[in-house]
Amino acid sequence: MRFHDDVAIVTGAGRGIGAAIARQLFLEGCRIVVLDIDESSALACAQSIDPAGHRSLALSCDVSSKDTVARAFLRIAEKFDTVDILVNNAGITQDAMFHKMTLEQWQRVIDVNLTGTFLMTSAVVPLMREKKHGRIINISSTSAYGNVGQANYAATKAGMIGLTKTLAKELGRHNITVNVIEPGVIETGMLKTVPQSIKDGWLSMMPIARMGQPEDIANAVCFFASNESSFITGVELPVCGGFLIV
Ligand code: CAA
Repeated sequence: MRFHDDVAIVTGAGRGIGAAIARQLFLEGCRIVVLDIDESSALACAQSIDPAGHRSLALSCDVSSKDTVARAFLRIAEKFDTVDILVNNAGITQDAMFHKMTLEQWQRVIDVNLTGTFLMTSAVVPLMREKKHGRIINISSTSAYGNVGQANYAATKAGMIGLTKTLAKELGRHNITVNVIEPGVIETGMLKTVPQSIKDGWLSMMPIARMGQPEDIANAVCFFASNESSFITGVELPVCGGFLIV
């Protein structure tokens, strides 16, 4: 076991990458808070990894809402005595070519992906500073480096990289590490709206010519969450089969 009862919060954990992260952290010894805007998928995920429910808590939480986040943290404090690990994974896309993108599409993606990361991180930092220990892992994207049709999403994912590096500088002296993972083409529901011709184009240029799996991201999260990475902070780790080097 890499963890000994550490409490890990994973946002957007009802399915896809977040669910894989929650499962793997749990299997490695963490107690888990499964947060998702959709309560039924949060419950289903927690139930599948911890049927007895003693070491997990499933909560519905819209990370873009300050009040909802505050309510979630009251519930977390009732069940668990501490927070050791935060994985900011919740994210949405509302893809459109820039000349067709509406203010609503821009704003909603900023609210969930970037402001959600701010609100969740704001809630855990005081606890981690007091404890003088913490691990914050942000899930960005290779789209941070630009992707046609994703001006809003790319702006948030690049924002998460800047936020990560700033937090790493501010929080290192409190023994809190902050790192960012950049998933590439990962086989989840998010890819369903992408035209097949575009997906084929990505695969044809990737050195490792397969879609990534949610577990590929979960493995990287476990590394950053564990003591194996205690001297690593402020780094970006692309997990993308070489997508970013082509
Ligand atoms: N590169 C170059 N040109 C492109 C392009 C691309 N990747 N995609 C579209 N275009 C061009 C089209 O050829 C077209 O050109 P013409 O006007 O000359 O014909 C023009 O842009 C408009 O394209 P569409 O007809 O497709 O425009 P649309 O408004 O119907 O759809 C879109 C636009 C919604 C962005 C659609 O193209 C799309 O879904 N693209 C995929 C976006 C994407 O990559 N999303 C990633 C989701 S997965 C994810 O985000 C996870 C992660 O972290 C990586």
